[in-house]
Amino acid sequence: MGRIDTLLAALTIEEKIGQLNMVPAGQTVTGPGELRDVHEGIRTGRIGALLNLWGADEVRAVQRLAVEESRLGIPLLIGLDVIHGHRTIFPVPLAEACMFAPDLWEKTARAAAEEAAQDGVAMTFAPMLDVARDPRWGRIVESPGEDPWVASEIAAAKTRGFQGHDLAAADSLAATAKHFCAYGAVTAGREYASAEVSERTLREIYLPPFSAAVAAGTAAIMPAFIDIAGAPMTANAPLLQGWLRGDLGFDGVLISDYNAITELLNHGVAGDLAEAAALALNAGVDIDMTSNAYVRGLPEALRRGLVTVTEIDASVRRVLKLKERLGLFDDPYRRGSAVLHAAKAAKRRELAREVGRRAIVLLTCRAGILPLSPEMRRIALIGPLAAAPGEMLGPWASAGRALSAVSILEGLKAALPQCRINHAPGAAVELCADAEVVVLCLGEAAAMSGEAASRAALGLPGHQRELAEAVFTLGKPVVILLFSGRPLALPWLFERADAVVATWFLGSEAGNAVADVLTGRFNPTARLPVSWPRDVGQVPIFYSQRPTGRPTNEDEHYTSKYLDVPATPQFPFGHGLSYSRFGVLDLRCSPSWVKAGECVEVSATVRNDSQVDGEATLFLFVRDVVASVARPLLELKGVRKIVLAAGQDGQVMWRLPVEALAFIGPRLDPVLEPGRFEIHVGQSADPAEHLTAVIELGRRTEPA
Ligand code: BGC
Repeated sequence: MGRIDTLLAALTIEEKIGQLNMVPAGQTVTGPGELRDVHEGIRTGRIGALLNLWGADEVRAVQRLAVEESRLGIPLLIGLDVIHGHRTIFPVPLAEACMFAPDLWEKTARAAAEEAAQDGVAMTFAPMLDVARDPRWGRIVESPGEDPWVASEIAAAKTRGFQGHDLAAADSLAATAKHFCAYGAVTAGREYASAEVSERTLREIYLPPFSAAVAAGTAAIMPAFIDIAGAPMTANAPLLQGWLRGDLGFDGVLISDYNAITELLNHGVAGDLAEAAALALNAGVDIDMTSNAYVRGLPEALRRGLVTVTEIDASVRRVLKLKERLGLFDDPYRRGSAVLHAAKAAKRRELAREVGRRAIVLLTCRAGILPLSPEMRRIALIGPLAAAPGEMLGPWASAGRALSAVSILEGLKAALPQCRINHAPGAAVELCADAEVVVLCLGEAAAMSGEAASRAALGLPGHQRELAEAVFTLGKPVVILLFSGRPLALPWLFERADAVVATWFLGSEAGNAVADVLTGRFNPTARLPVSWPRDVGQVPIFYSQRPTGRPTNEDEHYTSKYLDVPATPQFPFGHGLSYSRFGVLDLRCSPSWVKAGECVEVSATVRNDSQVDGEATLFLFVRDVVASVARPLLELKGVRKIVLAAGQDGQVMWRLPVEALAFIGPRLDPVLEPGRFEIHVGQSADPAEHLTAVIELGRRTEPA
């Protein structure tokens, strides 16, 4: 018998349920409920996993209890939300998405895994793959943005990064793709609310990132807290058992979200804990995170015949298998034993600075305002977030230390030693009197986005608008640094400021990254992974709208639009300025007549039309012009970055497999329909600046 069969044969039913029980250790708090003493539960085999714990010594102490003092010595699984870095904090996920750089998405996950594993952590509850189109929802900050193709690329890169080449390695973490699925579609952006999503939209938008995570080998998946049209995901057998385990063949661990099994009672689908536990287990949920519902409900569910030991065994087997894959049986202490290597720590800070500046989106910029002139001698740096290092870390940064983060004030001082930087957090208009430029830091505090942080309005909190208005009346050039975990609807600000820079929450190196961009040491290249609304009334807002029978026309009454704001976003998906100016010249598709199994080579010439070296970003969209189901006006299929010296031309190229033109057909399975497709290449999702070509997909000629 192998190790796992031997253990299964030896475990009592209480110990089996213990293997499915994950309990909070309380080093950080990420959900409701009382903390319990965990030591006795570990010794008696009633707890098989802990979350919210890190630190080599802390983890070793509890692991020793499990390995040396519990009856069968099964090691604990230690999980933590390692979301955007661990000790070194990288930009929040929405900001990282702005990089459109799979290699860097992977690198930051790898660095985070190395650090967290050195702290004894074996599993991260990341990547978060919820496509998010409603900035009222606070968790948009943790998301890959609005597009399923981008979310799928991030799923693959992050899974590779966290898990490394070998899950058993001392620096690898088990990844958890979450929150399965459609959590981003909660009604009116209100946290934990129900989602109403059609079967088609599930398949087109919300499921693909999870397929990508499974294809990349994710060790675990976390069902979302929410229900879709009355079916809570924690008990959603058709999607968990049917689609994930059945259709995709996912045989990893399903771990509930925090307290989610007990919350099936609040959802109104279970009458007591035995029913809740049975619903979750039968749907395929292996680990109960924090709700104690398996411990309290499964024995009774067994008595009532709601579950069988075979199902419990199947879950225990998957959990033990994960522990085995993580190398925990061979050496339970392999994580948490490496010494933090100073040189590597310095490299991670460099990486944090590099990704920080690559995540900064230059939203608006009047000519000549940025980069700041090297002659600049006097800057007024104003606003509540100018000298707030802890805020720079953003939400979900529990092991990050506020004091080790670089504030904007520190970053600017270091970058501009010749300059006098006068700083005040609030109404310091007099401070601006002799300034050549005012840098005004506005936005949300870190805790205003993330979990349980939905907002009904998308404006600036507190009295920040008054502060901004007072500064504008001085008539000085004003550069706004806009900190937020979501797009904020601030048309008045975009109108009046000389430049607006979206700085999100950039992590440990925030101040240096911002200074690099403001001084021109780094030429911005980030692009928005979300459409940025003008008004909260436009949300949900996203570029891949379906056509309407009455397309928007401001001059025609009976067309699709609003009376009070334009139908277009403030900034389209993909928007982001640079100190260079690029043009797309020439688009070619070859061949222009294709069949299934073939590829179209799409190429475009890009020109740097400016005096400044820079990096351009090109998006490839397609539109299926006539299909059996109306297809979106644009669908993203690829992104390319190209570095071009001032005045230089370059080529970008994609090999687009014809299968990428398939869609979910009338019977809800993938179909490839012949006909005309538009190929668009541009620097954002704004179709007005696209170059467009047409290809024809012919009927496959079957051999006679
Ligand atoms: C969140 C998850 C997180 C878990 C553990 C929950 O409240 O929804 O995203 O992984 O807590 O901290």
